[in-house]
Amino acid sequence: MKIAFFSTQPYDRQYFDKYNQNHQLVYFDVSLQPDTAELASGSDAICVFVNDQVNATVVHKLERLGIKLLLLRCAGFNNVDIAAANAAGIKTARVPEYSPYAVAEHTVALILTLNRKTHKAYNRVRDGNFSLVNLLGFDLHGKTVGVVGMGKIGQCFAKNMLGFGCRILAFDLIANPELENADLKFVPLDELFSNSDIISLHCPLNEKTKHLVNKESIKTMKTGVMIVNTGRGALIDTSAVIEGLKSGHIGNLALDVYEQEDKLFFRDLSADIISDDQIMRLMSFPNVLITAHQAFFTDEALTKIAQVTFQNIADYEAGRLGPTLVQ
Ligand code: NAI
Repeated sequence: MKIAFFSTQPYDRQYFDKYNQNHQLVYFDVSLQPDTAELASGSDAICVFVNDQVNATVVHKLERLGIKLLLLRCAGFNNVDIAAANAAGIKTARVPEYSPYAVAEHTVALILTLNRKTHKAYNRVRDGNFSLVNLLGFDLHGKTVGVVGMGKIGQCFAKNMLGFGCRILAFDLIANPELENADLKFVPLDELFSNSDIISLHCPLNEKTKHLVNKESIKTMKTGVMIVNTGRGALIDTSAVIEGLKSGHIGNLALDVYEQEDKLFFRDLSADIISDDQIMRLMSFPNVLITAHQAFFTDEALTKIAQVTFQNIADYEAGRLGPTLVQ
């Protein structure tokens, strides 16, 4: 099978080439958009990542090019118009789980860095500045952590935080009593928002979860709350968190995802003028930490992404795409 890969980075090529057995892989740096879809001409399938746009316009172009299979090398599929793909007879398969540990551990890394300011301490000490002024953090032990979305990543993250001696307030569409214990309780979302010292988002992005963190919900949170988003950028209304940070209501904000990330992330823009004023404003706060969608980025995760994607191709060819099929 000939597969056109969009938005590829050197590490994608390394892992896909390593596990490829008999397919023709064509790599493009550019993302999939209406004006780049033509690059898939002559391919049987395409492989895309989180910021490729597979909207109805793109789907119609892919249909005309004869694309039969859409391979997502990620878990989330909020960037794909699944109804349009189904109508066009294009099957969509994803990698539902590559390493929940990778994302959960990065979430912990963000919390520890932001709280104990090790990123600032590192630079300070290298500069011969051994002062502790403005490096004050808080104990995680005894704090209440709200976990929104108790799927694979949310559960791993909750376990990690229980290890620090935190209390977990969890919210999911359906509570799972089997996960409850003395330190982990399922509660309604408003209760989670109003009682958590740290709120971490691990639910998918959809119409119901878009801007879950907004002007109104921020008002119900504790003053000084730490908000962490490693889910999807649009779970948060960026303008509202900027206001929350300016007023001091939000004490700390850590982001691995950002609403407008498709124009920024996975590129070196260090010599460019960045026109996105919101991210520049966010980066100006001393209590905001941003990483560029790297929570998944471990050797284990990249290995699994390549292996499951090739398995998806084999299953498609054998007419037995199963749980990885998105419908
Ligand atoms: P999952 O499907 O195992 O868990 C998602 C959970 O969210 C489910 O339990 C589901 O019931 C729950 N949920 C759905 N709607 C909800 C709502 N309205 N409110 C609260 N909970 C809701 O998915 P997994 O693997 O845990 O991933 C979660 C999300 O993390 C993905 O959808 C993706 O957007 C994001 N992600 C981010 C990565 C990164 O590198 N930053 C990497 C991988 C995933």
